[in-house]
Amino acid sequence: MLNLHDYRLIKSVCIVHFLDRGEFMFMSLIQKRRSIRRFLAKPVEDEKIEVLIEAALRAPSSRGLNPWEFVVVTEHDLLEKLSKAKVHGSEFLKNAPLGIVVCADKDRCDVWVEDCSIASTFIFLASESLGLRSCWIQIRERMHNETITSETYVSEVLHIPSKLKVESIIAVGYPDEKKPPHKKEELQYEKVYLNKYGRSYTNS
Ligand SMILES: Cc1cc2nc3c(=O)[nH]c(=O)nc-3n(C[C@H](O)[C@H](O)[C@H](O)COP(=O)(O)O)c2cc1C
Repeated sequence: MLNLHDYRLIKSVCIVHFLDRGEFMFMSLIQKRRSIRRFLAKPVEDEKIEVLIEAALRAPSSRGLNPWEFVVVTEHDLLEKLSKAKVHGSEFLKNAPLGIVVCADKDRCDVWVEDCSIASTFIFLASESLGLRSCWIQIRERMHNETITSETYVSEVLHIPSKLKVESIIAVGYPDEKKPPHKKEELQYEKVYLNKYGRSYTNS
């Protein structure tokens, strides 16, 4: 008689056989992904930056309106200034070799937040695939100090026009820290339902 553990093991082996190499690699990348905030003092090669830009520009957007725009920041002085965008949670950017600022024209699309979030996600997943690591820095709805928003601060540093909203900065670089992947057993499967809210997907 198979227990639940055996059943899950067999199921994952079957799924691995079912996936082709590309799909398997993508899942493996997602399984290992962690936010990395310590980077080596090694620049990101231009060819890799170009791949990240391509990934961002390939992100889907509502009605294909592509409201996003990106500022690629490689100058250390600017990264240091941007690292002060928030009181907490942005300081590590000063030691990153690259930051990609994701902003959007809110008048172009009402769901620009979602569009920017997907583009940000594409950037950090593409980073992983290139052997780089990254971390999202939230800018929208955050404060630089008691009176100035992080958005205003970032816009001033980079001369971003006021009609654009700033969603995030993705810090990217070669990792100088290792983090273990999240364990599968710790994933919150209890939040997944089948056909009806409350009916567990995993136990059905
Ligand atoms: C929308 C969003 C905003 C985030 N903002 C920040 C941030 O401002 N600073 C930071 O250090 N990490 C930030 N993170 C990274 C999270 O803290 C991180 O994803 C979370 O702690 C889980 O860790 P993991 O990514 O290693 O799994 C953000 C992540 C997301 C998705």
